[in-house]
Amino acid sequence: MATTDSDADLRSSLSLRELDIPNRIAVSPMCQYSCETDGLPTEWHRVHLGSRAVGGAGIVMTEATAVEPRGRITPHDLGIWTDEHAAELEPITEFIREQGSVPAIQLAHAGQKASKAKPWEGNLPLQPGDGGWEVLSPSPDAYPSFPGDRPAMRKATVEDIQDVIDAYRDAAERALDAGFEIAEVHAAHGYLLHEFLSPVTNHREDDYGGSFENRTRFVREVAAAVREVWPDDKPVFVRISGTDWLDDRESWDAEQSARLAAALAEIGIDLLDVSSGGLHPDERIDGGPNFQVPLAERVDDGAELAVGTVGGITEPEQADALVRNGRADLVLVGREFLRDPYFGLRAADELDEEGESAWPIQYRRAVQ
Ligand SMILES: Cc1cc2nc3c(=O)[nH]c(=O)nc-3n(C[C@H](O)[C@H](O)[C@H](O)COP(=O)(O)O)c2cc1C
Repeated sequence: MATTDSDADLRSSLSLRELDIPNRIAVSPMCQYSCETDGLPTEWHRVHLGSRAVGGAGIVMTEATAVEPRGRITPHDLGIWTDEHAAELEPITEFIREQGSVPAIQLAHAGQKASKAKPWEGNLPLQPGDGGWEVLSPSPDAYPSFPGDRPAMRKATVEDIQDVIDAYRDAAERALDAGFEIAEVHAAHGYLLHEFLSPVTNHREDDYGGSFENRTRFVREVAAAVREVWPDDKPVFVRISGTDWLDDRESWDAEQSARLAAALAEIGIDLLDVSSGGLHPDERIDGGPNFQVPLAERVDDGAELAVGTVGGITEPEQADALVRNGRADLVLVGREFLRDPYFGLRAADELDEEGESAWPIQYRRAVQ
């Protein structure tokens, strides 16, 4: 745990490096598939992210934001591969900060899960020439979970790996120019970095496959590249899948996640955001409230970094208990923030009855 403060609760600030996050509630990254096909933010992003900052979240994190066009899940994902992307994101980060919230960006590369149609347009793979593109993969074997025809695939060469590391580094620099204060490396949910971590999808025989050391090399190199350009006074997060939920075969699991946590802490990663799954259709997930908390606790066991938990968290008291009981330093909330953009204000009202109203001054007449 980052916080030795045993009195911490959901409403307490969280200090990571020199950054003070006003409370322990974060908007979990959620794809909106609402760009044209250029990766530039639209009015949707401004209003969507802005409302959640108005709604009292301590951190507002963008959706998976592609570090290169090939790394988008769909042609409509957000991206940050040019300076124009950074310039157009800047007013959004400015507004988030004006609301007292911290703007964060999730830097992503979708690997083999790239080049698909939007969920509400069927989610099927798009072929090159038909709106899609050639996707990058650790191994020549096709990704297991794609229904329908697979997109053209390319096994990443060492040069490709280096290009992606460079793309992450450049994206982080642009994110900083855009005003983000936290960068999160997306290494979860079956996307490129997770595909390298898991022996289910990584069958390489070079320095990037085989042993734990080799399978984790890519994510460690990306994390180090982002850390290198991110200022010393600002934190870097990494999101991982704590397990593949494939206990019947050699796969990525909680024990390896804990080992990776230690390695990432050494690189200077400040918080591990622990999600799970997303790699393989055979995964067996026992969902429900707090279902990923035990995975966060497992990596937290002795790790020299802060730990975030996510998944099935819908109630302020539930989230508060996770922090109070030392089960997580940060609570990320996804779908509940789609249902209620003011979840943070609701939490303030329910948990902090004595405190000054957290509601924006413009809205106070509604709650006085
Ligand atoms: C619409 C939607 C889009 C999502 N997109 C992302 C994403 O871009 N990056 C990511 O790491 N997780 C993504 N997720 C997963 C969420 O961040 C979160 O981990 C998951 O929904 C579980 O939390 P919840 O139960 O609070 O919703 C997405 C989830 C939803 C519902």
